[in-house]
Amino acid sequence: MSGTVLHVEHVHLPCARRSRDLGLTLVLATLGLPAVAVECDANLGAEAFASKCAACHSLEAGQHMTGPSLHELAGRRAGTVSGFNFSAAMSESGIVWSSTSLEAFLTSPQTYVRGTVMPFGGVKNATERAAIVCYLVTS
Ligand code: HEC
Repeated sequence: MSGTVLHVEHVHLPCARRSRDLGLTLVLATLGLPAVAVECDANLGAEAFASKCAACHSLEAGQHMTGPSLHELAGRRAGTVSGFNFSAAMSESGIVWSSTSLEAFLTSPQTYVRGTVMPFGGVKNATERAAIVCYLVTS
C-alpha cells in the first residue's frame, strides 16, 4: 500500500519537485506493472514536454487545446478521447499508445501516422524523446 501512496505523491507533484532519485523501476514494480519505461528521466521529460508539447497539449482530463488532452495516454487507443475532433488518419490508425508506439510517433509523427494533422515535425534528440515518452506514460 505504501508503494501506491509513494506513486501518487511523486507522479502528481509539480514537475520540479519530482525526485530524480526515485527509481521508476521501483514505482512500476511496486504497482505490479511491467517495467517497460525503466531508467528514464521524467524531470527532463517534463521540461521537454513544457517547451515542445504544452503549447498544444494539456495533461488535464478533457482539456483539449489545438491538440487533444494527453491525460492517461498509456493504453488508450489513438484518436478516441471524447470531445476532440481527430483526423481519420489518427482515429483509424489502430495504434494503442505505449512506450513503443509513442517513441515511434514522436520520432516522426507524419511517417508513423501518415495523414495526421499534428503540426509537429518530431523530437530528433533520442534522449529528449525517451524522456518525453517516460513522462507521458507515467503522468
Ligand atoms: C502545434 C500543435 C501541436 C504540438 C506542438 C504537438 N502536438 Fe500532438 N497533436 C496535435 C494535434 C492537432 C493532434 C491530433 C492529430 C490528428 O488528429 O491527426 C495531436 C495528437 C497527438 C497525440 C495522439 C493523441 C491521441 O489521443 O491519440 C499524441 C500522443 C501527441 N499528439 C503527442 C504530442 C507530444 C508528446 C508533443 C510534443 C513532443 C506534441 N504532441 C506536440 C497538436 C500538436
